[in-house]
Amino acid sequence: MRIREALALGKEFLVQAGLPPEEALIETRVLLGHLLGLKPLDLYLYLERPVSEEAFRELLEERARGVPLAYLLREVEFYGRVFTIRPGVLIPRPETEILVEAVLSEDLPPGPILELGVGSGVVLITLLLEGRFSQGIGVECRAEALSVARENLARYGLAQRLLLVRGDWLSPIKASRAFAAVVSNPPYVSREEWKELPREVREYEPPEALDGGPDGLDYIRRTLAEARRYLRPKGKLFLEIGYNQQKAVENLAQQEGWRVKFYKDLLGYARVGVFA
Ligand SMILES: C[S@@+](CC[C@H](N)C(=O)[O-])C[C@H]1O[C@@H](n2cnc3c(N)ncnc32)[C@H](O)[C@@H]1O
Repeated sequence: MRIREALALGKEFLVQAGLPPEEALIETRVLLGHLLGLKPLDLYLYLERPVSEEAFRELLEERARGVPLAYLLREVEFYGRVFTIRPGVLIPRPETEILVEAVLSEDLPPGPILELGVGSGVVLITLLLEGRFSQGIGVECRAEALSVARENLARYGLAQRLLLVRGDWLSPIKASRAFAAVVSNPPYVSREEWKELPREVREYEPPEALDGGPDGLDYIRRTLAEARRYLRPKGKLFLEIGYNQQKAVENLAQQEGWRVKFYKDLLGYARVGVFA
């Protein structure tokens, strides 16, 4: 099969699978480009080049079954950089870039950063690459995620400056008020919201990365109760939250004696709390 035919086949296949035609064409180009090591739009320069129909159909079938595009490409873009991703590890979301923006915007004392729930490592790695911190520690409970995070550390030459620890949230770290910032995009999906998540997310992404307990606030509650003992004087805690959690988080922050301010997304929802 030639690229010309593969473009038509891919679009037709993904439209049949339920994607709108525009999206089907974009995804076809991305998958085909991935298979051939070409940029999606460069495919049009090589329309007569041969493609393995079997390999291409295999990718299309997986996509049609609902496997997220990032898991097929094994790569994802975050804050302008490319990171490795694999099934079993949460696909970084654009809203998590607000968490990075918030940390980069706030005044903080000197000192290292601690991230809880590092996943693929994109947050910690981006903050070090942006020059905000020179050292950090990340805690993660899942081996699959730690292995992807380690690959990403090596990809950006940060293995000497970031320590990754396997364990349960704050428990493996000594509460010695050593950190300038504690940062997390915690699991914050409630049981009710879980049922409404797209099939792609429910069936293919790790539930441990999303499940925030009955009301979605288990990890947020726990972090607000414990994080102060890890922060240096004037240090801050940064938490990504669900679009509908601002009120509940304000109440929890007040109970635990934090002052809180929020960073909003483009729709005006508070998505990151900064706690001091
Ligand atoms: C929402 S994901 C965030 C991943 C990554 N930081 C990002 O923003 O793409 C939450 C992460 O916390 C991890 N996690 C969940 N419970 C944990 C626990 N008790 N201790 C450590 N990590 C945990 C999950 O495995 C997952 O990688």
